[in-house]
Amino acid sequence: MDISISRLLITALTSGGVFLALQCFAADTPANIQRVLDTNNCSACHGKTEPVVGPAFNAVAAKYANTPDAADRLVGKVRSGGSGVWGQVAMPPNPGITDADLRTVLAWILKQTPGHQ
Ligand code: HEC
Repeated sequence: MDISISRLLITALTSGGVFLALQCFAADTPANIQRVLDTNNCSACHGKTEPVVGPAFNAVAAKYANTPDAADRLVGKVRSGGSGVWGQVAMPPNPGITDADLRTVLAWILKQTPGHQ
């Protein structure tokens, strides 16, 4: 009896720890942002700090740090796709993303910094 209770406690504590660790990991990217990145496939080509097919988001933020209207310009670029800014590989058009989601995700992308992972 006693043994099974302590086993239960240990199991509960252990899975609680794993749960907390996962939450800390996920807390990096706000849930609403992660949803936009996942449903529109952005995550397939962009990492937050690592380039994949396209540039890392913190590299995009660094590039446009001194461009006040960067978000406005990038709305059109992400929607229509294109190449030549980061290399010869093209970003395909993203016609399905809503304006609100696109604005939200661009504001978040442009806030990324190398130290803020
Ligand atoms: C199939 C791969 C792919 C997908 C999916 C994709 N991108 Fe890209 N993205 C790229 C590539 C490649 C570039 C570099 C284009 C260039 O050099 O002009 C890029 C560039 C960018 C840039 C910088 C543009 C510039 O002119 O500096 C932003 C911002 C961006 N992507 C955001 C997004 C967002 C947000 C999504 C999801 C809605 C997304 N991307 C989906 C491949 C992708």
